[in-house]
Amino acid sequence: MKNRQVLLASRPEAEVKESNFRVVDAAMPRAATGEVLVRTLYLSLDPYMRMRMDAGKSYAPPVEPGEVMVGGGLGEVVESLDPKFTKGDIVTGRTGWQAFAALPGAALRKVDTKGAPVTTALGAVGMPGVTAWYGLLKIGEPRAGETVVVSAASGAVGSVVGQIASIKGCRVVGIAGGKAKCDYVLSELKFDACVDYKAADFESRLKAAAPDGIDIYFENVGGRVLDAVLPLLNAFSRIPFCGYISEYDRKEGHAIRNLRQLLVSRAKLQGFIISEHLEIWDQALSELAGWVAAGKLRYRESIAEGLENAPQAFIGMLLGKNLGKQLVKLA
Ligand SMILES: NC(=O)c1ccc[n+]([C@@H]2O[C@H](COP(=O)([O-])OP(=O)(O)OC[C@H]3O[C@@H](n4cnc5c(N)ncnc54)[C@H](OP(=O)(O)O)[C@@H]3O)[C@@H](O)[C@H]2O)c1
Repeated sequence: MKNRQVLLASRPEAEVKESNFRVVDAAMPRAATGEVLVRTLYLSLDPYMRMRMDAGKSYAPPVEPGEVMVGGGLGEVVESLDPKFTKGDIVTGRTGWQAFAALPGAALRKVDTKGAPVTTALGAVGMPGVTAWYGLLKIGEPRAGETVVVSAASGAVGSVVGQIASIKGCRVVGIAGGKAKCDYVLSELKFDACVDYKAADFESRLKAAAPDGIDIYFENVGGRVLDAVLPLLNAFSRIPFCGYISEYDRKEGHAIRNLRQLLVSRAKLQGFIISEHLEIWDQALSELAGWVAAGKLRYRESIAEGLENAPQAFIGMLLGKNLGKQLVKLA
């Protein structure tokens, strides 16, 4: 048996192309003592992977050409040399873009198969959900009645941010690309308002949607959207700085014009990387699972079929073709 893998073939010059990847059939990995052999069932596709395709300064080392693409996955234990796991367990971990991975047991998390569908362990009750939980609650510190604005609002992180903010009694304004996504954000996620950032008059629409100003801006995209938010910030507002997807392709950055508004509003802006806050994961996952079970936290998944289609699905996610969490189901 062979292990199908997707490798980084070359670094993108700007936008990612399918030719930046190569699909190969490699030798099967073997589990060493303390390790677990996992068969990947679903691969999670996430924007951070775009940054790992580039060399240069970042918070994590890049993938080198010829290496397996990094990524989180949901898998089934096929062999365990760690006493904490048995064959058949469903786990999440850093499988990478491949069909099988031998991983340290200490780096895996067992998934409760009796609760919500297991795929939520990669989405609303997984890394994106925990990211939303931490950024909003620990950095944003929402109070009932405040206005929370979140960009990439229909996506894996943004959809959870807005719904937690609603649970906490805030007025929630989403920002998303296009009418269909805004309709979804309003009708299914029940945000109070949603503004299409692709509209020519986006800035004035955002102002109208936040008549009392903005107390928390959960930043996922940066660029022109951030510039439009800055003048609307209230005194002592908070900005959990989660992502900046508009510039992951390393095109020339948007020159921010309104930065002084951070001073004028005495705002707090704090970047964070969720894998560095392992101490809150258990609490966050338990609360997220509870909200999903209670029907208070809704989610969508976009699922591509087959590992060899992961590059196309990844490019689509970067272009906004996904609705909710982008996954790949392995054959
Ligand atoms: N700090 C952390 O630890 C951490 C952890 C997880 C995720 N993140 C960050 O959180 C953000 C959202 O991640 P996600 O997994 O939830 O992805 P996602 O929102 O499910 O998918 C990415 C979305 O970004 C939007 N987008 C793409 N290009 C854009 C542009 N130029 N301007 C505005 N929006 C654009 C698209 O939505 P539209 O169709 O609406 O444009 C697309 O659907 C990303 O920036 C990611 O890097 C950070």
